[in-house]
Amino acid sequence: EQIEKGGYDHFMLKEIHEQPKAITDTYRGRLLRSEAIIKMAGVEDNMKKFLNANRFIIVACGTSWHAGLVAEYIFEDIARIPVEVEYASEFRYRNPVITENDVVIAISQSGETADTLAAIKLAKSKGAFVFGVCNVVGSSIARETDAGAYTHAGPEIGVASTKAFTTQITVLTLMALRLARAKGTISSSDFRHHLLELEMIPKKVEKALEEDEHIKKIADIYKNSRNCLYLGRGYNFPVALEGALKLKEISYIHAEGYPAAEMKHGPIALIDENMPIVVIATKKGHYEKVVSNIQEIKSRKGKIIGIVTEGDEQVRALADHVIEVPETIESLTPLITTIPLQLLSYHIAVLLGKNVDQPRNLAKSVTVE
Ligand code: G6P
Repeated sequence: EQIEKGGYDHFMLKEIHEQPKAITDTYRGRLLRSEAIIKMAGVEDNMKKFLNANRFIIVACGTSWHAGLVAEYIFEDIARIPVEVEYASEFRYRNPVITENDVVIAISQSGETADTLAAIKLAKSKGAFVFGVCNVVGSSIARETDAGAYTHAGPEIGVASTKAFTTQITVLTLMALRLARAKGTISSSDFRHHLLELEMIPKKVEKALEEDEHIKKIADIYKNSRNCLYLGRGYNFPVALEGALKLKEISYIHAEGYPAAEMKHGPIALIDENMPIVVIATKKGHYEKVVSNIQEIKSRKGKIIGIVTEGDEQVRALADHVIEVPETIESLTPLITTIPLQLLSYHIAVLLGKNVDQPRNLAKSVTVE
């Protein structure tokens, strides 16, 4: 097992560090920048289905559901396709309205999650076209779907999902860009710009990983907190949810992810000097609005850990700690902002002596209802 961990203390840490390579493997052969095209067999072969779809319904569970939420932003923003994101377990029991013109996208690392599989079967029985985004080749979901795209993240052993999440987002981003090109909702220069930025993501993830020691120190300060809040807006709202889930899963600290603007409708009541609040405040998107959310937290004495763009001064002046990440275009920020949140949870759990790779009560793949 020590050999399998490749010199890392835990599989989770190894998998966090594998992300630059995993993301590269995911777009390799699909993103052809010199030709300025994206090629994905499962999408090309079914282009008509995608282009004629009334809407996309994304079904998934856990971290994969969070990847689906990120995809909702990018499909709507870039490809102008209406998207609904559903917990597979709710969708399947809700008597949902599904038609032959719906495209259902099932996201699953393992390809074995019982609820996601059942949601696929239901969608197929109503005549929808079902596309799978899986990591495990030949898995039940990969076999049950009409077509799909693998994430090529390599085996993920740690129960808390890390590289599966970022590679799912990579595949879904490629799909959104490919469909946007086919639909003409993105200009050719903007498309090229996205390809260029996407190719730079692995290097930027590497850069984000270099904050490890700094993050460990922050983890040490907050490891005994009872609660933690994660805030983000736009593309980074799902990242806030994922950051909170990572902390809950492996450190057993209660954590909640919230859209930053919703803070005033509830979570603000919890803020005092004992509450750490992780705020994703990168320069892109709704930066100024997030800064004003940070001011509201500060005036209530909450402890602010800001995830900021390199060189940021404004949030640095307000926050108790900042963790810098390299700049990228807004739609790709989740691939970078996720990294410090994974490391923060990892270090807190290790400092608390928890079983990082196999947290209590959780399973890597949930094959029962
Ligand atoms: C379990 C795992 C999570 C995972 C979820 C969905 O809860 O512990 O890490 O996100 O199942 O799994 P899937 O394999 O369908 O992505």
